[in-house]
Amino acid sequence: MLQMAGRMGVLGTESAFEVLARAKALEAQGRSIINLGIGQPDFATPQHIVEAGRKALADGHHGYTPANGILPLREAVAADLHRRHAVTVSSDQVLVVPGGKVTMFFAVLMFGEPGAEILYPNPGFPIYESVIRFSGATPVPVPLYEERGFSFSAEEVLAKITAKTRLLIINSPANPTGGAVPKSELDKLAAGLERHPHVAIMSDEIYGEMVYDGAEHVSLLTYPALRERVILLDGWSKTYAMTGWRMGYGVWPKALFAAAERLAINCHSCVNAAAQYAGIAALTGPKEPSRRMVQAFAERRRYIIKALSALPGFRCATPGGAFYAFPNIAGTGFDSRTLQSRLLDEAGVATISGTSFGAYGEGYLRFSYAASLAALEEAVGRIGEWLKRQDNTREKQS
Ligand SMILES: Cc1ncc(COP(=O)(O)O)c(C=O)c1O
Repeated sequence: MLQMAGRMGVLGTESAFEVLARAKALEAQGRSIINLGIGQPDFATPQHIVEAGRKALADGHHGYTPANGILPLREAVAADLHRRHAVTVSSDQVLVVPGGKVTMFFAVLMFGEPGAEILYPNPGFPIYESVIRFSGATPVPVPLYEERGFSFSAEEVLAKITAKTRLLIINSPANPTGGAVPKSELDKLAAGLERHPHVAIMSDEIYGEMVYDGAEHVSLLTYPALRERVILLDGWSKTYAMTGWRMGYGVWPKALFAAAERLAINCHSCVNAAAQYAGIAALTGPKEPSRRMVQAFAERRRYIIKALSALPGFRCATPGGAFYAFPNIAGTGFDSRTLQSRLLDEAGVATISGTSFGAYGEGYLRFSYAASLAALEEAVGRIGEWLKRQDNTREKQS
């Protein structure tokens, strides 16, 4: 008998990938499925970025690069952070990694072990809780509240910190809720964290350039008092429609950088060389394609929030960022998982149950609106019809 390490038993997953597989299987049977499950832009990578990747291959960039990434790319990241947040970051603190996920994996592995506690948002990106458990640490959920636009309460976060807390994970704008934490709440959190110098903070800002209706994205890097213990997670996947290129980066405090780089050397050596050149083009080239994409998301967001709110049993908050709607579906009488699977099997609409993002996601469904307006209209129409059929059946039965 092969015997895997015990920790493999607690490793979770991202059910968006399972829903995608089920949706594909139904499509293979000839069913029409609208996939609002997967969280990736439905846009192609802008042409000038693709061209830079192609040119890098043609120019012979086929070998290993330095483990932390090529210098012009790290300099471009530092310049971009200065442009966006007016912060000064040294290119020596930038660790380029294959996708946003890697920074969270490294941060959790660096701090997590049995006896340690790690705070994470719930409902939140499922990989946080999964990797915390994998590390042996105790996951401590930080609830996000619909009535606060899916922000946390800074007081509540601070109250959960103990002597065992090693790491606090923050994600704004957020997956799966779209919530953007207001600056006033971040200010309170940052002030309170000064009383807890033993806590590192990983700030997942991968949706930082996707905010709407004047909502502002405030980077945790902008709090000087926290700079020595903030790990910034960001990357190219969402902003530049580059999910398949596997390009992300972490900005690490000086004291942690060598450890993070060592993890990279043990894990993946370096990021695909040609993709790094594409990454430079993304940061230094025209921003218009990204802007157009965010404008399209804003239009779809206006539509879907209103349309979902009009469905019987649905109530949809209007959070400020990312490309997700997270309606409360408690009024339908279905639990989240049942509604997710019945909408997929019977209405042909793929969504993700709120419980896939943690226990506090019960009563919600995640809709990714990174799909065409026509697809969104068709999906909402199908759900409306399906809900009507359930009502009719219930009436006949009573
Ligand atoms: C909040 C959040 N962080 C990180 C990631 C990971 O991004 P990447 O595909 O670049 O690894 C995602 C992807 O969905 C995400 O939603």
